Amino acid sequence: MNIPSTLFLLLLYSPFSLQAGATEMLLDQYQASGAGAFTAEQGAAVWGRTVIHANNGQTRSCSDCHGGDLTKVGRHAKTGKRIEPMAPSVNSQRLSDPKKIEKWFKRNCKWTWGRTCTAQEKGDLLLYLQQH
Ligand code: HEC
Repeated sequence: MNIPSTLFLLLLYSPFSLQAGATEMLLDQYQASGAGAFTAEQGAAVWGRTVIHANNGQTRSCSDCHGGDLTKVGRHAKTGKRIEPMAPSVNSQRLSDPKKIEKWFKRNCKWTWGRTCTAQEKGDLLLYLQQH
């Protein structure tokens, strides 16, 4: 194998580049669908937002399941199941698979806010989560 392709494979399979690749791809996609500039600060606010759920009048937020500290294990609010830390710095699987990210954005925004997330919210959230 020659040197350039070895380097390419190294880049391809290092957790860092996987993450950067997946999030960059999604950020481009969100941008293309009309979102403005993304910031981690806005993402933090979105992550911390609590809404009153129409069904039961209880408040819900992302940290209900993922916990207050993204580097720590979370617990599913309904099933009590363990959820691995969200922070890519301690969980290299995080933000590495665009399909998985999109699937859970869809489910979790619905559960938490009763609606899908906008492209703007998803971009801001990705930047915020990526920092951890
Ligand atoms: C009812 C519990 C629950 C709530 C509330 C919740 N999540 Fe999740 N989330 C999960 C579960 C379960 C998974 C998938 C299991 C896993 O990846 O560990 C997950 C995975 C994710 C992932 C996939 C990350 C990756 O790359 O592996 C993202 C992104 C995410 N959630 C974002 C959010 C956001 C944003 C909110 C708030 C709008 C939120 N979650 C609220 C339970 C929840």
